Amino acid sequence: MLDVALARAHTPGVDNVTHFNNAGSSLPPEIVVDTTIDHLRREAEIGGYEASEEAADRVHDVYRSIATLIGAQPEQIACVENATRAWDMAVYGYPFRAGDRVLTARAEYASNAIALLQLQRRHGIEIVLIEDDESGQISLEHLRRELDRGAVMMSLTHIPTNGGLVNPAQSVGEICSEYGVFYVLDACQSIGHVPIDVGQLRCDVLSATGRKYLRGPRGTGFLYTSDRALDILEPPFLDLHAATWTSETTYEIRSDAKKFENWETNYATKLGLGAAVEYALAAGPDETWSRIQSIACTLRERLDGLGNVTVHDKGQTKGGIVTFSVQDVPAATTQQSLRRAGINTSVSPPEYAHFDLPHRGLPALVRASLHYFNTDAEIDQLIQALET
Ligand SMILES: Cc1ncc(COP(=O)(O)O)c(C=O)c1O
Repeated sequence: MLDVALARAHTPGVDNVTHFNNAGSSLPPEIVVDTTIDHLRREAEIGGYEASEEAADRVHDVYRSIATLIGAQPEQIACVENATRAWDMAVYGYPFRAGDRVLTARAEYASNAIALLQLQRRHGIEIVLIEDDESGQISLEHLRRELDRGAVMMSLTHIPTNGGLVNPAQSVGEICSEYGVFYVLDACQSIGHVPIDVGQLRCDVLSATGRKYLRGPRGTGFLYTSDRALDILEPPFLDLHAATWTSETTYEIRSDAKKFENWETNYATKLGLGAAVEYALAAGPDETWSRIQSIACTLRERLDGLGNVTVHDKGQTKGGIVTFSVQDVPAATTQQSLRRAGINTSVSPPEYAHFDLPHRGLPALVRASLHYFNTDAEIDQLIQALET
């Protein structure tokens, strides 16, 4: 059983704020903060290179922890700065040819869409948008129709930045693997939120961030690459960590996923990320996921009960991100007045979700993103603040 009181006792930030901005950056548990600061202090005490050498085994364990969390091997993990860079290293590393069809869906994240548009200009790829089904998740039927017409890649955002939708990533993976299509999964909002097993999802690559539902430090992220992806992808840029300079005119790229990393890295936050992953594993991905679903469902019901508020989440399965609008009040105004009441939410603007919000005729929305450590009392506080 998940011990919410204990999780809160481990989270100093809950004493200061009501934090419903976990899809922005969550409140880290104390162990994450301590692990990060301890390493920074050690760097100051004995020197940065010496501190990383001393921590080498613990750094190695970070890859093991991430691999355990997602059902992968440590050699398939690259630690990078954020989810976007993880996604970029994979997608910009794909050997596209003019005319290649790349499928994506309405939940696609802005940075991924921008990158695909750049790749369209650069290589002449064709971007094909898969429609939603009647529930608002990706249409598996439309996906099959487009795969029948041929495609090289499917790029899916598991949970969008702007709503409660949880896309059926496993069904998409099963269909892509039937067609042999390269499957890129953006798990930025789903890691630490929904249990993730890359074997079941059948993705070729998965990108994730540390600071959101994993509750790790900012500026951390990772990329998972399947063995097939390791063969197919060439990093868009290399350094002396990703490759070895074997002679004046030659170099050799390393074979594991670290070829997608930089030599220089923030060891303190990498260790902090490892602590966050261990904390998530100990809390229990299945237990935390059910708790998130249950309190987000409570919040949606309570918001529905307010006459002037509309909830805009879609899809068959809904997670912890709750988006809504208050009649005749701009999202930023609501978010700022909640902030003054000590409640953190955020705003999802249309330009973060061009395939979705404008398509539904929606303006910017207020986003309250809940985590397992949020409580019913905090939901009461949000509802009261919206009522006044
Ligand atoms: C669905 C999704 N993908 C990718 C990103 C980008 O993540 P990062 O800022 O870690 O690069 C975000 C950030 O909000 C996101 O919501």
